[in-house]
Formats: sequence, structure tokens, C-alpha cells
Amino acid sequence: MSPLFNSISIGSMIIKNRFVRSATNDYLGNSDGSISDQEVELYQTLAENDVGLIITAHTYVQHPKGRASISQNAIYEDRLIRGYQKLAQSVHPYGTKLVMQISHAGRQTTTSITEGQTPIAPSMVIDQSTGQAPREMSEAEILTLITDFVAAIGRAKTADCDGVQLHIAHGYALSQFLSPYTNRRSDQWGGSIENRTRIIKEIITQGKLLVGADYPILVKLNSTDGFSDPGYLSLDDVLYTAKLLESLGTSAIEVSGGIKEAKGVMSRPGIKTAEQEAYFAVAAKAIKQVVSIPIILVGGLRSKTIMEHIITSQTADMVALSRPFVKEPNLVTKLLEGQETVACVSCNACFNPNGLKCYYKGKD
Ligand SMILES: Cc1cc2nc3c(=O)[nH]c(=O)nc-3n(C[C@H](O)[C@H](O)[C@H](O)COP(=O)(O)O)c2cc1C
Repeated sequence: MSPLFNSISIGSMIIKNRFVRSATNDYLGNSDGSISDQEVELYQTLAENDVGLIITAHTYVQHPKGRASISQNAIYEDRLIRGYQKLAQSVHPYGTKLVMQISHAGRQTTTSITEGQTPIAPSMVIDQSTGQAPREMSEAEILTLITDFVAAIGRAKTADCDGVQLHIAHGYALSQFLSPYTNRRSDQWGGSIENRTRIIKEIITQGKLLVGADYPILVKLNSTDGFSDPGYLSLDDVLYTAKLLESLGTSAIEVSGGIKEAKGVMSRPGIKTAEQEAYFAVAAKAIKQVVSIPIILVGGLRSKTIMEHIITSQTADMVALSRPFVKEPNLVTKLLEGQETVACVSCNACFNPNGLKCYYKGKD
């Protein structure tokens, strides 16, 4: 029997197999940030088709500055809980677990998305991908951001989500605090790695006080900004952060990488060979060696053999996929029935504000 179909515990949550649908923004939310009927249908389809754990699209915790895209889901007010209850109710009958990913855009947004308000960030470092200049956050704004993340953790629990995942990846606000490239502060929130992780420590500590030590808090963590030059996030910083996360009671770490300025790092295009698969595997294995909580690997997993090898070689405990589930929401069932590889060609056309689906037309 393939190790991919063994169950696993993430804190108090038991997951029936090793497959994770990694957080995937679907551009299908209602204009007020609430969950749409189309989204309920999408999640139910994934659950019906044996995905063990679904992580929601990144859900922003502070309006309007936390919003990274139009049609993004939000959880900054209690009225938004109801939609997540519907998601939970749609997946639980199939034995699938649901984890809400929570985020704040920080500097990776534009004034057209934040209703004209200047984006906020740890430091004033212009986002080269958009040309947008953010405003440096005040101490009071950092404390408010912590409060808003903690409130979102509470709402995830109220909504019957089985856990929550802090988005500390891909160049959004918490990942901006972590990286010395985007965090140039000289106060207690910047400088040393102890200071750059302080906001994460506060959110998890206060979050646990609110929802209880047993409620699973997971993290999606950048293993790199996508640049190897000095001044960007280093592996030493990442290993320090992983150990800190474990000591704070984090239930699992999903290993990813890339900020928006580093194009093609997070969702690498054109994966055709086994060598191109699992492009964060080295980082995941390094993290797994310094912590004992479950590690989830995301990024370019395309064949069953490689996925199995990730588990058996103790590189990670679970495999997470995003683009392949856009093409084949029934992928897990197909792999169980003997299919060997995914149909997705990693063309990235699914990054489309018209709504999540596979737009691939050509050969590849
Ligand atoms: C359309 C699209 C939307 C995404 N939205 C999110 C998101 O909301 N949160 C997140 O952490 N990652 C997001 N990602 C990144 C994926 O979760 C994943 O880390 C990346 O695509 C690599 O995995 P893959 O090769 O299986 O696609 C998104 C990716 C795609 C293609």
C-alpha cells in the first residue's frame, strides 16, 4: 500500500491520507469578501474526491489594507464566519479536514485593491513587481495587526475549521517581517532574527491563549525569498524560525518559497521532468531535521513515485499541491486507482482574476 494513503496526526487533527490541497486563491469570493456558492461547490468537489486536508485560499484579516486581490476572501469581521461554516459543513461529511489560511498583504498590494489607502509594511521598500511604495508601519499598527490575526484565529475556530494556517510565505506581511530584505526596522520588530520573528511569536502565543493549546495552528513558511544574495532570507534564519515555531506549539510547517519580486519561484512554470519536481525538497529536509512536528512539502509535486519518495525518504510527512488540483479536482482518487502522474503542465494560466479553472489550451 502506498504511504500516501496512510493517516497522520497534525496536533489534535487526524487526517486520513497524506494529500493536502495547498492554499489556492480562487478569485471566486463575493465582492464583500464572503464565501460564494461557487467556492462551497469547489471545496465539496475536492472533499468528495478524497483530499485529506484542504487549506483555504489566503483569507485577509484586516480591511482594506490587508487585501491582496479583488474577490479575495476575508475574515476581518464576525459576519464573515458564516461562509466558512458552510465550507466546513461541505467537506466534513467526506472525512476531509479544513484549515483556514490567514494573511495580510503588507506591501504586496496596490491602492486600487486597498480602496485608495497606502499599503503598509515593516519598512518602506518599494515592491519592484508593482512599483508600489508602502508606508512603514507604526508600533501601534503592528499591535493592531497582531490583534487582527489573533481575532481571525478565533473566528476560524468558531467557523468549525479544523485549524488555521498563518501565511508566513510568498512575500505577504508576516513573510515581510521575517525577511531582512523587506524588514529594515531598528526597533524591537526588526534587525536580529529574534526581532524579525517577534510578531509571529506574539500572534501564536496570543492565539493559543484565545483558542486553547490544542487547536491546531499551522504555518506556511518561506524557505527563501527566491534570491540567494546576502540581505535576503537565509536558511539559518529559516531553521531558527522553524525551531521557534515548534517551541510555540505550532502543529505543522508547510515549506514553500518565493516573494512576488522573484518571479517563477513560488509556482515554478514548465515542470516536465522528475528533476524539476519537488523544488523545495532540500529546504524541507533541512527543516525536518531540526524539528519533530509534521512537515508538509509544496511546490512542483507531479508524479506519484516522487510523492512517495518524499514520504519514505523522510523529506516531509505530507505532500501539498495547488495547480494539479485546478486541472484535476479528482486527482487523489485517480492516484488511488493507479494513475501515475498529474495532467497539469504548470503553465500558470490558472492565475486568472476571472476565476479559478484550468485555462490551458496549447500543447504545453
Ligand atoms: C492560482 C493560484 C493561487 C494561489 N494562491 C495561494 C494562496 O492563497 N496562498 C498560498 O499560500 N499559496 C497560494 N498559491 C501557491 C500554491 O499554494 C503553491 O504553493 C504553489 O503553486 C506551488 O505548488 P504547485 O506546484 O502544486 O502549484 C497559489 C497558486 C496558484 C496557482
